[in-house]
Parts: sequence; structure tokens; C-alpha cells
Amino acid sequence: MKVDDEALIEAAKEVRTRAHAPYSHYFVGSAVLDEKGRIWSGCNVENAAYPEGICAETSAIAAMVAGGGKRIVAIAAVGGHGTVAACTPCGGCRQRIREFADRTTRVVLLDEHGKPRRYTVEELLPASFHLP
Ligand code: THU
Repeated sequence: MKVDDEALIEAAKEVRTRAHAPYSHYFVGSAVLDEKGRIWSGCNVENAAYPEGICAETSAIAAMVAGGGKRIVAIAAVGGHGTVAACTPCGGCRQRIREFADRTTRVVLLDEHGKPRRYTVEELLPASFHLP
């Protein structure tokens, strides 16, 4: 499948505008391309009870699963706060991405300045735990 990173990046930027991050002020948007070419997006949703907040990648993956998507073909995330240079997924989100992706699946990460950096799942989560 031809992967249109630009569409994915735009979807992540768009949903980022709706992030609920009144505590960290670190606004994140994420978009997933599924195996049928559909794009699902999600933002971080923080909570006054801090640990209850969820990451943008988790939101996007949940939207994909709820909508019937089975596999992550590519995933993008855009976020930042002031001088923070890059928005890289937390450990939990790396494992959640891995659940629906292959080791070679592309992860496109953008900082607030919009320069995409491309990684594979394997680069972000080496020797990952995954059931066959
Ligand atoms: N966050 C994400 O949503 N995705 C990432 O890749 C990194 C961090 C969120 C969690 C929290 O709401 C805020 O950013 C600061 O950690």
C-alpha cells in the first residue's frame, strides 16, 4: 500500500488542536493509517487525577480498533511544548503500537517545527515482546 505520510501528518496536526492538556501544556496529536487505507486520529486527554490521562497514540489506536481497523501500516505523532525538540512515544505507547504493527512499520515523529523524523517500530522498541 502506498503510504501518504503527508495526509497522516496533517491528520495528526489537526487533531492536536483538540488535545486536552491543561496540566502539562504538552499538546499531542497522532494519526494511524490502517490496512484498508483509512486514517484514525487521536489526541492526548489529560485528567486532574494525573495518571488517568491518556496519550495521543493510545487515543488514535483505540479509534482504529473501535472503527474496525486491524493493523497499523504507519503512525504519526506531532507534539511539543516550547523548546522540546521531539515528541517520541512513551514506553507504554511503543508497546501498544507494536501490538498492531510489524517491526518494520514506520513511525513518523514531528516536533513543533514540523520536521518529520522516521523510525521503525524495531528502532523504538527493540527486542519487543509480541505473541505470534
Ligand atoms: N504524550 C503523548 O500524548 N504522546 C507522546 O508521544 C508523548 C507524551 C502526552 C502525555 C501527556 O498528556 C503529555 O503528553 C505530557 O507528557
